[in-house]
Parts: sequence; structure tokens; C-alpha cells
Amino acid sequence: MPTTVITGGTDGIGRALAATYLERGHDVLVVGTSAEKGGAFLAAAERGGAGGRARFLQADLSLVPENRRVVGWITRTYPSVDVLVLGARFHRSTRVETADGFESNFALYYLSRYLLSHGLAETLGRAEQAVVLNFGGSGLTGPVRWDDLQLRRNHPGTGALGHSAALCDLLGVHFTRTHADTSVHYVLNHPGVVATSFAGEYDTATAPHVDGLRMSGKPVSQAVEQILPFLDAPPARLTAVLEGRRISTSTTAFDPEDAARLHDLTGKLLTGLPQ
Ligand SMILES: NC(=O)c1ccc[n+]([C@@H]2O[C@H](COP(=O)([O-])OP(=O)(O)OC[C@H]3O[C@@H](n4cnc5c(N)ncnc54)[C@H](OP(=O)(O)O)[C@@H]3O)[C@@H](O)[C@H]2O)c1
Repeated sequence: MPTTVITGGTDGIGRALAATYLERGHDVLVVGTSAEKGGAFLAAAERGGAGGRARFLQADLSLVPENRRVVGWITRTYPSVDVLVLGARFHRSTRVETADGFESNFALYYLSRYLLSHGLAETLGRAEQAVVLNFGGSGLTGPVRWDDLQLRRNHPGTGALGHSAALCDLLGVHFTRTHADTSVHYVLNHPGVVATSFAGEYDTATAPHVDGLRMSGKPVSQAVEQILPFLDAPPARLTAVLEGRRISTSTTAFDPEDAARLHDLTGKLLTGLPQ
């Protein structure tokens, strides 16, 4: 039976994708922090007759050890993973550091996705044709602040999430090069503005703007429709999608040398943290 793993699968686009893959007969694991939302997902699956194929794993993916625990759990539980959706986000408009000492958006939006992508590469590689969906910037959200990846100087407020999304674009580039010997395809997706919970903590200046986005965004169902064709038949090993339209990955946002540089820097940042 195919297996789908979705971080941020308890809400928004991730939750809708989880329902879609359950309907298609997949085993579906959603990962999130909220036991209440996880329980709601399991109850809905049960009502739909898919209870036996739905699982929820509670984890705070902004923490490095939690990502390692999740990778271990998935590796022990599933022989292979066919679809990995990296959708967890908690958008903070002011600078906060995690217990590991990373800027919080960097930790959840980029570092978690780095750890899960590479940590699950072997398990993904065992599927006939696996696909990873990472909600990156699709070339729109750079430039990368190479001298200040932790955004210590002039924190960009809501732009912190976009900065991490640009790092995700480079993660996709390096992942497909590093794991070129597998059949794993990688899709980077910027869905545009979608009416979801916009999970996060926003300062008083930003909060009304985010409320507006929650109201004016496209329906989640439309965001799912726009990305599913690329997950079902990825047109290349690395594909970038912007609101349902494939965009070039030959621009500077997807520079392979930058991608290798980021990969090395990330490895150094992780050195010394508990395994
Ligand atoms: N909505 C938009 O307009 C938009 C625009 C561009 C890009 N995107 C991207 O699309 C993806 C999905 O966004 P969305 O708007 O559908 O999501 P959302 O409604 O904001 O939900 C966020 C999800 O992340 C999970 N999450 C938050 N903190 C977590 C943590 N520390 N550890 C693990 N999980 C955590 C939440 O689950 P719990 O509550 O259970 O923790 C929830 O399932 C995200 O990557 C987002 O940045 C969205």
C-alpha cells in the first residue's frame, strides 16, 4: 500500500492533501504539534472508513532532536514512503530562537525540511517512484542572506518566512543532485495566497494584514488542484511550481553552487548538536 507522510498535515493545505491521499487508498501519517487537531484528523478518517490507514504523530519539528525522532519512527514503521509533503510552518514576525539556538522560521521552515528530506531519502528511494513536495519560494522569495542565515541583524519580520522558503529552493536543488541515483522527484511549490489558518504569531502591525490574507486567499481545494498534477506525474527530477504553473529552475534562485554552499553550511550548523 502506498504511504504518504505530511508535516503540517493537521491543518490547511496539508490537511486537504492528507484527505486526498486517504481517499486514494494510501496509508497517511500526519505530523503536527496539536494532539487536538491530530485527533480530529483521525476521527474524520474513521468516519470516512479509512481509520485503519490514518496515523498522527505529535512532534515539534522546530527542534532538531524531534526531527531525528520522527525520521527514526517513520523508518521503523514504513518500509517505504511514496509521498512526503513538507508543509509545517509557524510564521513568527519577530525574532525568536529555538532551544537549539536557531531562528524559529529557519528551524521549522528550512532546517526541519533539510533533516526530513535527507533523513528519509533512503526510505523514499525504496518506493517505485517517490515524490517530495516542499513549499519553497519557487524563485520569488530571495535573496539569501549568506552572512546572516539566523537573521540576527535587521530581522525582516514576515520576510523571515520567505527567506527560509528561498533556502528550501536550494535544498531541492541539492537534494536532487545528492540523490540522483534514486527515483525520488522533488517538487517546490509556492501556492499563492490560500485561505488557511496562517499558523503563527504576528505583531500588532502585521496581524490585520494576515487576517486579510485569511479572508481573501483562494480556497484550499484550489491550491490542492493546482499542485496534484505535479505530484502525480512530476515532469522533472526537480520541478518548481507557482500557483499551478511550472517555472524555470535555471534562474539564480536555483543555483547549484549556492545549493552546495547552503548544504555545507547547514551541515556545520548541525555539528555539535546532540544526535
Ligand atoms: N496559506 C498560504 O497563503 C500560503 C502561501 C505561501 C506558502 N504557503 C505554504 O504552504 C504550506 C502549508 O501552509 P498552510 O497555510 O496550509 O498551513 P497552516 O494552515 O498555517 O498550518 C500550518 C501547519 O503546520 C503545523 N505546525 C506548526 N508548527 C509546527 C511545529 N512546530 N511542528 C510541527 N508542525 C507544526 C500545524 O500543525 P499543529 O497546529 O498541529 O502544530 C499545521 O498543520 C506552508 O509551508 C506554507 O508556508 C502557504
